[in-house]
Amino acid sequence: MERHPNIEVEEVTKTIVNGGHRVEILKGISFHVPRGQFVALMGASGSGKSTLLGLLAGLDAVTTGRILLDGVDITRLTEDELALLRSRKVGFVFQSFNLIPTLTAEENILLPFELSGAAGNGRAKARTLLDEVGLGHRGHHYPVQLSGGEQQRVALARAFITSPSILFADEPTGNLDSTNGQHILELLIQINRRRGTTLVMVTHDAALAGYADRRIVLRDGEVIADEMQTPMALALESA
Ligand SMILES: Nc1ncnc2c1ncn2[C@@H]1O[C@H](COP(=O)(O)OP(=O)(O)OP(=O)(O)O)[C@@H](O)[C@H]1O
Ligand SMILES: [Mg+2]
Repeated sequence: MERHPNIEVEEVTKTIVNGGHRVEILKGISFHVPRGQFVALMGASGSGKSTLLGLLAGLDAVTTGRILLDGVDITRLTEDELALLRSRKVGFVFQSFNLIPTLTAEENILLPFELSGAAGNGRAKARTLLDEVGLGHRGHHYPVQLSGGEQQRVALARAFITSPSILFADEPTGNLDSTNGQHILELLIQINRRRGTTLVMVTHDAALAGYADRRIVLRDGEVIADEMQTPMALALESA
């Protein structure tokens, strides 16, 4: 049905100049991700995972190479075009939940929808998402009134409100204990499957990576492994 893979990465390099030294952070990365796939991006600290995720999401510019999202080469877009594409096509979840402290949970979730200029009933969507992440009763709470796990659930709901075709997550469970981390990951996978979103998740945790359809491993800015796998069943499924 789709003419293009959801994500196409072609010979991407990223070099930065730091104190007169050129540092090659990414050294020619290539892979394609079909729509709906869940990719775990792994590798040691400093291997380039966050840098790559930032490039894929259009938050930072490549040095050379191309990145296509749904067939659109994002390395050739103007800042304005890129901002629009980001707000409509892409969702993010970070390790630090990045909620706005002066907005309630529901207002935080609604914000990207309002910024994207999308039509429709954003409040209704926000409430549906609050229910989906199990926080239907917490919509009017401020981030400071929520636990870490609850804040990350709000961040998940916020990431999905614009119905992105791709969700990027950089160690989304990194600030949570293992029980809360597991819960967030299961929610993420569930919402993701329900909506057919492509998911690229950075994780250090081999157990969490076991839920993915595919593992891509970086070392020193290069892909050293790219393997399909049978994803582990969710606890919810086997229950
Ligand atoms: N702005 C920058 N200036 C200098 N070096 C940078 C910059 N951004 C990234 N780096 C370097 O690039 C390399 C890759 O960084 P990156 O944050 O992508 O790694 P990572 O795989 O996400 O690591 P971690 O698992 O610790 O989050 C590191 O050696 C880092 O120090
Ligand atoms: Mg990182």
